[in-house]
Amino acid sequence: MEIFYVNGSFRNKNKANISVQDRGFNFSDGVYELIAFNKRKIILFERHLERLKSSLISLGIKQPFTNYQTLRIIIDKLINLNNLDNGYIYIQITRGSSKRNHIFSDNLKQNVVLFLIPERNIEKMKKGVEVRTSKDMRWGRCDIKSISLLPNILSKQEAHLNGLYETWQIKDKLVTEGTTSNAFIVDKDDNIRTHPKSFNILGGVTREVVITLAKNCRYKVIEKPFSMDDILKCKEAFLTSTTVKILPVTKIDDYEINNKKIGKITHNLMNKINDYLKEND
Ligand code: PDD
Repeated sequence: MEIFYVNGSFRNKNKANISVQDRGFNFSDGVYELIAFNKRKIILFERHLERLKSSLISLGIKQPFTNYQTLRIIIDKLINLNNLDNGYIYIQITRGSSKRNHIFSDNLKQNVVLFLIPERNIEKMKKGVEVRTSKDMRWGRCDIKSISLLPNILSKQEAHLNGLYETWQIKDKLVTEGTTSNAFIVDKDDNIRTHPKSFNILGGVTREVVITLAKNCRYKVIEKPFSMDDILKCKEAFLTSTTVKILPVTKIDDYEINNKKIGKITHNLMNKINDYLKEND
């Protein structure tokens, strides 16, 4: 039986309920995090925690935990109760429940929900995935990991219906990021290019790790947005997220990248991140 955490208690899935007046349900008024765990060990917990705190602050939602060690204890217990070794922890915090009103009071009690998602088999995708591009339809604060994901799910679905893994979103002729991942290319001089952290992208935890690893390997990382023209000239492309770590991108719209083979820099970083995640938490 799957066990969920809801507002202080661990419950069977069919008893894991919250109010229909939850502001997350009515307004998408909340934030989330997705954290990987491997052999029951939580991966990069502190970095995800920092982002969770910053998302909450940006939306003016009070921190539900006075001490974040509590959150770690809840996660450990959830993993044990579900008896799952590898997967992802989904954490959702909404502003709370109240009569439907756009205006909110300061005194709401946040709704906190956690559940686990089993690990997916991504072996096939590690050989390369294909992406499409389309207009970035999202709001002006994509740095907040908000549960309001309509443009993301619609663009991801469009990719899926076309047999592709992801949609790279384009704003003012420049690639911002994917719908569930950050986007990278390697230019003809072996420089790694990705959109800088700003209101236009989610500052991915994996993105940050990849940039550090790339710099350790003495690759030059240029945090500057790239265009479709840059894609046409690039040698390699890849994407990053907690769920897939690094995936080579072998086709973008109609353009095949590196004859659809994994590039050497992408390949090297894929190896490096596996080692890094084994050694760091
Ligand atoms: N998505 N950009 C967007 C829009 C994302 O939703 C995600 C993650 C990322 C990568 O961030 P990170 O490396 O911290 O996972 C970038 C998660 C996996 C999701 O929504 O399921």
